[in-house]
Order: sequence, then C-alpha cells, then structure tokens
Amino acid sequence: MTSTVQNDDLRNAASEFLVRYGGDRFDNLFRSAQGTIVVDDEGREILDFTSGQMCATLGHNHPAIVAAVRESCETALHMFSGMIPEPVAKLGRELAKWLPKPLKKSLFLNTGSESNEAALRLAKITTGGYEVIALGGSWHGTTGGSASATFASDRRGYGPKTPGGHVIPEPNAFRCPIEHCRDTCDMTCLRVGLKMFDMVTDGEPAAIIAEPIISAGGVIVPPDGYFTELQKAAHDRGMLLIFDEAQTAFGRIGAPFAATKLGVTPDIMTVSKTLGGGLPLSATITTEEIEEKAYRNGFSFYTSHVSDPLPANVGLAVLETLTREALVPRATEMGAYLSDALRALQQRHEVIGDVRGAGLLIGVELVQDRESRLPHHQLGALTTKRCFELGLSMNIRRRPERGSVWRIAPPLTVSHDEIDRAVSILDQALTESLDGLSRPN
Ligand SMILES: Cc1ncc(COP(=O)(O)O)c(C=O)c1O
Repeated sequence: MTSTVQNDDLRNAASEFLVRYGGDRFDNLFRSAQGTIVVDDEGREILDFTSGQMCATLGHNHPAIVAAVRESCETALHMFSGMIPEPVAKLGRELAKWLPKPLKKSLFLNTGSESNEAALRLAKITTGGYEVIALGGSWHGTTGGSASATFASDRRGYGPKTPGGHVIPEPNAFRCPIEHCRDTCDMTCLRVGLKMFDMVTDGEPAAIIAEPIISAGGVIVPPDGYFTELQKAAHDRGMLLIFDEAQTAFGRIGAPFAATKLGVTPDIMTVSKTLGGGLPLSATITTEEIEEKAYRNGFSFYTSHVSDPLPANVGLAVLETLTREALVPRATEMGAYLSDALRALQQRHEVIGDVRGAGLLIGVELVQDRESRLPHHQLGALTTKRCFELGLSMNIRRRPERGSVWRIAPPLTVSHDEIDRAVSILDQALTESLDGLSRPN
C-alpha cells in the first residue's frame, strides 16, 4: 500500500492540475482494475457496478484484451488514415456476422459521440435534409452534432444547438413527461411529439436518433411496439432511423443488439463503449445501399484515429471473447439473478419505487413514497456515498424532472457472490441512510 503522504501528494496534484469536467468525482485516486474490482489509492477493493463508464463488459483488464494490446505493440498501433490496417478489415468482416441484415458496412472511430456525429452526417448527406429528432432524456454525446441531440444533461451555457434539432417526449411509463400515463405507456407521447414536429418542420428531415433503452435519462425502457412506430414515423417523413447502441450492444441486455431483440433494424446503428471493452473503439454501421449513396454524395468523416489498428485488434478480441465465454446468454442469467435480488430489496424498502431494465442494464428508482413518486434525491446522494464507503461503486442519475435512478450495470462476467455482496451493501447503505435522515438534527 502506498503511504498516505504519497496519496495526499497525488490527490493534491489531481485538484491542482486537472480540469473538473462535471459529474460526481471521488476524492480518492485509483490504482488498478481487474474483473469486477477496482482498487483505490488506499488499496481498498471496490466492486465496480458501472463497468467503468459502462464499457468494461468483459470485466477490467480481461486477458484477451491485454493480449490484443500486446499484439498491436508488436505489429502497429496507428497508421495514416488512408491506409486500412489488416485488423480493421478483419473487424469489419467479423462485425458483419453479428449484425442484423441488411446492416453490413462499418466506419471504425473511437468514441460514442464521434460515432453519432458520423451517423448524423451520414443521414444528412444521404437524405439531403438536416432536421433531426431525438428523444427527451437521451444522451448521444458531447460534440457539436451529438450534443445537439442530447437532452439528459443541462444544455445551458454553450450557445445554440445545430439548426434543425427537435425533441419529442420520452416514453417513461413511471414518470410520464406529458403526465398522461401511469405504469403503461400508450405512446401518446410519441404521437404528440410527432405532431409538434410536423408543425415546426422546415421540410428538410434527415433522421430520428434514439437509444433503445434511454440509459442516462434514467434507464427508461420504451413499451413494446414503440420502435416499430418510430421506424414508421421516420420512413413516412423520409428520415433515416438511427439506433445508438452505445450501451445496449454486445450482450449488455442479453442480446447481441437491442435491434435483434426488438426485431427492428435501423438504417444506421452506432456502437461504442461495449465494442472496445474499455478501450476507445466505436463504429457507425449502415447498409450497402446507404453507404453507396453517401459515398456518391461525397461523404467524409476523416479523423486522426479512424481505422486505427490497436482498437480494431481489441474489438476482435471482445467479439471473440463474448462468443467463447457465452457472455450474451450469461447477461440474461445474471441479470435475472440481480433483478430478483433488487426486487426482493424493493419489498423491504418503500423508497424503491421501481426496478426496470433488461439483462445487466438495470435502473432502480428512489422515491419519497410510492403513491406520490416524488424523487428522493437526498437519499440517492447519501446512499451512493455510503455504498462507496462500504466498497460498492454505483452510478446515480439525478435530475429534478426525471427522478433519482441508480444505473446498475456490472460486467457480464460478474459472479453470484459479487452480486450478493453488492446487494447486501446496497441494503445496508439504504437502511443506514434512511435512519440518518429520520433522526432529528
Ligand atoms: C447512449 C450513449 N451514446 C453516446 C454516448 C457518448 O459516448 P462517448 O462518451 O464515448 O463520446 C454515451 C455516453 O455515455 C451514451 O451513453
């Protein structure tokens, strides 16, 4: 274990030399990560139930990923963007075997924001339009175009979004944004949203972009049939449908993609976080027909790290490991085990208003009471802090209009024992935090 003096020195360096970039940040620094465990600068082992930033689906530092990085060190890390490295051609071919038809052609980039940026440009150059509809509560990234379609975070302070950006209310059955449904979404939100769009459109439509599960917005699972309706709405208006599968692709929800699970194939799909398993790799994927049209219209998305060999080798290792270790069905099995445990916890804690999600992407919403469903932000903050002290890292999404929701997403390799430990910590943290709140000051 490093001495406290050294810890303090580096902690001071972190506050003195690093830009604060938003979100909750821990005081501790972190040293290493393996499987489901992250180790901090005091040598404490913490269960990572966020899979890093929702990326490390194989667990941290999986040997297959480490081997792929080593192999790249022996061959090539980076190349001129006009050169296609062999691993990139291989990854394109392997990924195509996973994709629902007619999706086939991939552009390999690094971050989720970038993949959505490329998807929006692809839709614009193909359709000739520029208007984009996104869903309330969505998170598609922090770069210009993708940030213009992001409504889960505060937009104030950065000037106008790109022209043509529209938002429609999200299908949140637990906290209906149009105050119409309770528990069962009848999709009035979609119909009203589209009516509003039809009223304000400049007649230059390009795309509808959506997360199949609205994750940062509170792990909102749209009702059955929603995406069939959304696809029809897009096509009726001459728009392309984009699925942002940053969080839902490659097993997280117990299926290769949400598109396969839903039986709705978008015109463009973006994948990121889970393709690199913790390294920066993303892809913008489309059909041969759209790719051909975009190419003829002069599509460009030329970046320093497009088609880089290192992340491609890692992507190949991720796909191969998912199959070899049967991690996609494992997410269903372990997801059911974790959801059952969380529902049992809900029986004992009135403040757990809802448990929802799919596979190992689970939302737990905290309320002041189940009738009013008023969000319990204070409890959310206190319990998350206590969980960390007890050895569990959890991500809470807190927005006044969207409630206080834990997003629980451990690696697909998580064990029963790790789930039992995490749920027991959660139980203890909830009990202690509630006791603390009910005590007079
Ligand atoms: C659904 C979704 N899309 C896109 C992004 C942006 O990805 P990145 O942070 O890699 O740019 C995120 C990030 O959390 C996300 O959750």
